[in-house]
Amino acid sequence: MAIEYKKDDRQFHLYNRDISYVISIMQNEQVGQLYFGARLPINRSYTYLLETAPRYMTSYSFEGDWAFSPEHIRQEYPAYGAGDYRQPAVELLQENGSRISGLRYVSHRIFSGKPTLEGLPATYVEEDDEADSLEICLKDDLCQTELYLLYTIFAGCGAVARSARFVQPQGTTPVMVDTAMSLCVDLPGRDYEMVQLSGAWARERSVITRPLQQGIQSIGSRRGISSANHNPFLALTRPGCTEHVGQVYGFSLVYSGNFLAQAEVTTHDETRVLLGIHPDGFCWQLAPGQTLQTPEAVAVFSSNGYNGMSQIYHRLYQNRLCRGPWRDKPRPILINNWEATYFGFDEEKLLAIAQKAKQIGVELFVLDDGWFGKRDDDTTSLGDWQANLEKLPGGIAGLAKRVQALGLDFGLWFEPEMVNKDSELYRAHPDWVLHTPQRPMCHGRNQYVLDMARPEVVECLYTQMAAVLDGASVSYVKWDMNRCLTEVYSAALPPQRQGEVFHRYVLGVYALYQRLLDRFPDILFESCASGGARFDPGMLYYAPQAWASDDTDAAQRLEIQYGTSFVYPVSSIGAHVSASPNEQLGRVSPLKMRGDVAVFGTFGYELDLAKLPPEDLAEMAQQITLMKQYRQLIQFGRFYRLASPFVDGVTAWMVVNGEQTEALVGWYRVLNAVNAPFSRLPLAGLLPDVEYVVEELGQPGEYGAFTGRELTQIGLLTGDGSCGIPHMAKQRTTDFMSRLYHIVKK
Ligand code: DGJ
Repeated sequence: MAIEYKKDDRQFHLYNRDISYVISIMQNEQVGQLYFGARLPINRSYTYLLETAPRYMTSYSFEGDWAFSPEHIRQEYPAYGAGDYRQPAVELLQENGSRISGLRYVSHRIFSGKPTLEGLPATYVEEDDEADSLEICLKDDLCQTELYLLYTIFAGCGAVARSARFVQPQGTTPVMVDTAMSLCVDLPGRDYEMVQLSGAWARERSVITRPLQQGIQSIGSRRGISSANHNPFLALTRPGCTEHVGQVYGFSLVYSGNFLAQAEVTTHDETRVLLGIHPDGFCWQLAPGQTLQTPEAVAVFSSNGYNGMSQIYHRLYQNRLCRGPWRDKPRPILINNWEATYFGFDEEKLLAIAQKAKQIGVELFVLDDGWFGKRDDDTTSLGDWQANLEKLPGGIAGLAKRVQALGLDFGLWFEPEMVNKDSELYRAHPDWVLHTPQRPMCHGRNQYVLDMARPEVVECLYTQMAAVLDGASVSYVKWDMNRCLTEVYSAALPPQRQGEVFHRYVLGVYALYQRLLDRFPDILFESCASGGARFDPGMLYYAPQAWASDDTDAAQRLEIQYGTSFVYPVSSIGAHVSASPNEQLGRVSPLKMRGDVAVFGTFGYELDLAKLPPEDLAEMAQQITLMKQYRQLIQFGRFYRLASPFVDGVTAWMVVNGEQTEALVGWYRVLNAVNAPFSRLPLAGLLPDVEYVVEELGQPGEYGAFTGRELTQIGLLTGDGSCGIPHMAKQRTTDFMSRLYHIVKK
């Protein structure tokens, strides 16, 4: 058992080979944080890390005691208002108007394995020996509310999963849960840098780093979805941390709605990390007999720099968050018609693209937006999931059959959570959209948000979608979501429950996903929200891949895919080759670069193949051959970032297989430089004393043979003083250069 309980100290030590997480029950019967970091010896008492000292101008819990001051003590699930002036993890509003609670230790249990979280996505185990769990029960004697703090430590990686569950026993009075975070960790000191993944539509998940200062620094979402603006993740690093060395704490929330990720540095140099559902707009009425389960937060510690942290998330999320038959399978190479046709298609146009796609080796044809109702633009028909027979005379079943006759699988786009006013669904049920009574509603892209908190809405969507999926052979679904929530009010809920709507919305989305997965377990779902506005761990539980961004420009994609890889595995990152000039930026870039970027993702095409010259199609056929040859390695190997588009001027990354016998490196330079210095790219993850043969794909002959030590210490030559005088240049270089190197044990 990797959880040690020292009874005399009331101390719990969760440990595995790499990390320790030590907490204790303190004298106020609440849970204190003693240590989180690299592995410590077991069978030791760490209660000396409970730091108490007499101070003026603070508050103490016990009469006659000038030491136990909650604001200075590192805690695990601090409550509002009783001496801790930092932001709390929990706030309970009681019938008498008080927000002061006293959740005190009652009992605990330690067990093998990991329980599921009702109605919520979460990491899981397949065998009980993969993880051990600790559940600590606390109770408020006055309002009788019970709190169960759940901790799971995984045997094979430096990660601890946490969540909280509130129970209001029968025969008591209701409480309002105003704040219920998933995780609070108080870390010692303030000498940290905070890393966040932030951006906006079409420029999601840039890596942003800042030194922590005293006070609160936070990111979050109040848009109803995790959002393109901030990802539900933050990392704290010690100064000097690089991709390969240094201490990193990662905090990631397995949730797809509003969130708060926050670091608060006190003026006594303690750093509190909070992660969970955003308290703004949240208030949950916990009636007798009811339970509130928070989402799961996954805390990671690595001493091996950012890559170390990312690799823990990649493996855990790929193997024990994603589920279903697609979890371990290389992903199909697809063609999507969106950027090829937008709404302007008919069956023949689609089949012309599908035919070309088959010829070059594509495996899956995906029909995007515009196939249903009267939808020829974005003003109409969301909510009416029946095929437009003018565009598709044989319906979805007819088109699917014709696509399959070509030898391709068939995939289909839905945007279930939305409705246009011009739709049968809205005309029949105007009450089914989120709106406040007698007030106007905001629209986004001419559409309105269905109230997923209502079971009848989920039921209606399930029935419509299941009918389409039953009627045709569909092996892939792209689930889109193209606007944020506003006027978040449910006509179906009483006034005191309106603070639940944001969360109930997310639960409704999860419920619909789960019902469809139960009914169609073999369908590969790809999540999407105007590109990457809901690229989060919650979604990965249902859809093992996500469309990373509506920006398909290769140069921009380097940044987006680089940032995304901080938390998410390559197998989850939807990446397509699109047209040049690029649809979003008008940028012209070579097909090679577009392909070399997209192969580090799920890979596919999104342009009108029927309009391309034969030489482009031939080059694409080669890209597909390459992807088929290496996709197992790329999508399931160990991924390392090597050079950052945000700081290095070039981008590079690589994947290495489990045996460390084979690797693939991607190197990308957007802008060329003349008379530049020599540059070399040190690699990672190779065995030092093994000799490897290196080949630059697409270039004749070997690049050379080198030991792993040479490749990691010296690296590959990526710039040889590139000369602007053509007859003197060893090799002509240009803007938008990319290279793929294949490395294999000799
Ligand atoms: C936004 C998505 O990100 C695009 O790929 C496409 O599916 C459109 N929506 C369709 O409306």
